[in-house]
Amino acid sequence: MSSLREGPAIVVRREDYAPPAFWIDTVDLAFDLDPAKTRVLNRMRLRRNPDVAPQALRLDGEDLNLARVLVNGGGCSFRMDGQTLVLENLPEGAEPFDLEIFTTCAPEKNTQLMGLYVSQGTFFTQCEAEGFRRITYFLDRPDVMASYTVTLRADKDRYPVLLSNGNLVDSGNLPDNRHFAKWVDPHKKPCYLFALVAGKLVAREQRIVSRSGKEHLLQVYVRPGDMDKTEHAMNSLMASVVWDEARFGLPLDLERFMIVATADFNMGAMENKGLNIFNTKYVLANSATATDTDFANIESVVGHEYFHNWTGNRITCRDWFQLSLKEGLTVFRDQEFSMDLCADPSARAVKRIEDVRVLRTAQFPEDAGPMAHPVRPDSYVEINNFYTVTIYEKGAEVVRMMQTLVGRDGFRKGMDLYFQRHDGQAVTCDDFAQAVADANPGSELSRLLPQFKRWYSQAGTPRVQATGRFDAEARTYTLELAQTCDPTPGQSDKAPFVIPVAIGLLDAQGRDLPLHLDGGPAVSGTQTVVLSEACQSFVFTGIDAEPVPSVLRGFSAPVVLDMNLSDAELLHLLAHDSDPFNRWEAGQRLALRRALHAIRAEGPVHQEPLDEAFVAAMRAVLRHPALDAAFKELVLTLPAETYIAEQLDIVDPQRIHAVREAMRSQLAHALHEDWIWAYEQHRDNGAYRPDPVSTGRRALTGMALTMLCLAARDNGNPVWPGKAYQRFKDAGNMTDRFNALSALVIAGLPLASEALARFHGMFKQEALVLDKWFALQAGAPDRGGNVLPAVRQLLAHPDFNLRNPNRARSVIFSYCSANPGAFHRADAAGYVFWSEKVIEIDAFNPQVAARLARALDRWKKLAEPYRSAAREAIARVAAKPDLSNDVREVVTRSLAD
Ligand code: PHE
Ligand code: ZN
Repeated sequence: MSSLREGPAIVVRREDYAPPAFWIDTVDLAFDLDPAKTRVLNRMRLRRNPDVAPQALRLDGEDLNLARVLVNGGGCSFRMDGQTLVLENLPEGAEPFDLEIFTTCAPEKNTQLMGLYVSQGTFFTQCEAEGFRRITYFLDRPDVMASYTVTLRADKDRYPVLLSNGNLVDSGNLPDNRHFAKWVDPHKKPCYLFALVAGKLVAREQRIVSRSGKEHLLQVYVRPGDMDKTEHAMNSLMASVVWDEARFGLPLDLERFMIVATADFNMGAMENKGLNIFNTKYVLANSATATDTDFANIESVVGHEYFHNWTGNRITCRDWFQLSLKEGLTVFRDQEFSMDLCADPSARAVKRIEDVRVLRTAQFPEDAGPMAHPVRPDSYVEINNFYTVTIYEKGAEVVRMMQTLVGRDGFRKGMDLYFQRHDGQAVTCDDFAQAVADANPGSELSRLLPQFKRWYSQAGTPRVQATGRFDAEARTYTLELAQTCDPTPGQSDKAPFVIPVAIGLLDAQGRDLPLHLDGGPAVSGTQTVVLSEACQSFVFTGIDAEPVPSVLRGFSAPVVLDMNLSDAELLHLLAHDSDPFNRWEAGQRLALRRALHAIRAEGPVHQEPLDEAFVAAMRAVLRHPALDAAFKELVLTLPAETYIAEQLDIVDPQRIHAVREAMRSQLAHALHEDWIWAYEQHRDNGAYRPDPVSTGRRALTGMALTMLCLAARDNGNPVWPGKAYQRFKDAGNMTDRFNALSALVIAGLPLASEALARFHGMFKQEALVLDKWFALQAGAPDRGGNVLPAVRQLLAHPDFNLRNPNRARSVIFSYCSANPGAFHRADAAGYVFWSEKVIEIDAFNPQVAARLARALDRWKKLAEPYRSAAREAIARVAAKPDLSNDVREVVTRSLAD
């Protein structure tokens, strides 16, 4: 992968897939672990693939020192082709043969955190996607599945815990104060699921009995001081085991399931068979150090990695173009898991709204920018660049549409058939879709399968134009739906997608009308129609008065819906829609309309962009007796600046920021009494519990406090800043404490610096809390260009460490990717900063650098002077001769036209 800085970048194409020329049946690995020089003895049993013409064996390797190669115990000839080890004179015929390879590597010098590396004195591995080749020579591709036996040897004092995949079959002492552990994985696996961990760790343990009566041991391994932060991860793991068995009939297939946390990790977590390795951010939590968001994220990431055990590990990907086969499906599963854990429909809807928000603020821009790619890409230079919101989140939406088209029970049948057909195999996205369709003959999915699969092959976000027409005489309501999709890189013309559109019609009282599609049987509430042509009409009969349409309920497809509803209609939906998603969406549309109006207006930004009707509607939601606090907080949150930017052809980030701030400030003042009421009503929540109800109350309290501090900043009244500071000091949990701190920082109040200093003093030993402290400052609303100098100071802070991905992200990504109002500066200093950091990080961690490189993806939409300055900054990065493939691919695509 990434360290290939020599030679031209090679494009890998999906259509070039060829099965491997050899199979590897068994692998026996022995590690002598030493940070400076680890010795790896790799003994494999291979055989030729009878279906492929005889050819040389080409083994992937990267940054390895090769010491010995033996075939069937004897010497043999080999050569290097770049970093590839080529063996040409292997035994002919079908008989298996033994290949022994002895290499060394230097884990302590491994700064990219791929392969075998050291984090805080402990050894970890990361092999997905192509990291195993940095451990030993191998056929590093997911369709080669082998049985693994692993022996770890290391110093007993420094590395008392020795872990690998599967079951511990032997352990004991060795001379020189060393010891060993031998692990056997009972399941065949691709090498990207290999893992080892060695170090000083402690474990929280839990024994469980599955439905079939089998006993399992669950373990969560952390550093000795972190035991008091493992309960929630363990609870989440137990809930995951129960859920997968209940919802999909998928049991835990291992005697032992381990999670290990590391502070140095490029991504969120990794689903290595039986030995998941996690970023500490997604394991460690207690009420004093973690927020409600952290608790929710841990639940879903623990679930996600656990669910991979079936969707990803038991059935894996044929090649990396099929990445969404496991990721889209597993995100869908973790989303469903989190929703199923919610007791009531409102909490489910809140989760759905949050997921859609991620999709629309991150994936839609990706799909409209230079890195746009289909859910199943056709080519890549660096596979690490394709762990994207498109593969994950859009991929999950594609799976969700399948469930919508075949129903929840039908989807379960589809999953059953998928496992019946493919358990133990490496397969494709086509195989998955085929199984779901075949299990549901007669469904719309089965009828339209080839066309439905365009969701896998065509990039870009479809737009659906909806127009409604009421005919009083005929008593019909006709909904015309038309779809288009803009060109994306390499795809100029798009064929129509299959788009499930969930529809409701509201009467004047806000009640759902019974729906008769084309005079068909009555459906109460929601009817899902399937748009599969460029343009189609759907006629609802027996309609007596003009209804208000509620279209794309639950966000039934990942599309942009254009429908010209009046303010009155949107206000009606906001007040009454039985579909909570569209109820929220109506509020977002009303806010967006006002934001766009103020942005497009001539002259200086209007300081009061909101009208009385909108304010009154927001007040009604805030004061509503029946709505949940969590839902209210979502409705009262204005659309994000990046989401607003996507609606514009030419983007002036400063103006967007100014308008959104003006709207927020107006809401702060106009609803002042209501915010006080909301704060007082929701502030007490008793003992901390991360359940949806108390989480929602804390979220609304935090929002109220921010609004009250914003108002105080303008009118100079010290009461609410004082209360916020008091709450910050007295809070009984991190959510309330951090919300109070944020309120002071966001409002830019003088007390903020005092609170920040105090917060740092309280938590200087807690890395994850310090990440929040850094992120809050780097993400603060810009006032006259003050954030960039603050960010530069944060980089000089003794607690800052560019090599730790979480810390780097907390400052640099929070500024460049999450704070558009501060990053896009007319003097281009934000972009200069960005280019410096991309280059600096690329020298030691290309994966993290390439993610940062994407902060300027949408530069072509920027207004001048931002646009030219951004292009210049990207060109400056691109001009560096020794970039990694990772960053090179991103900036090349970004500059292409
Ligand atoms: N496969 C991991 C997941 O989605 C993500 C990951 C990819 C982690 C590559 C590390 C490296 O759960
Ligand atoms: Zn995953």
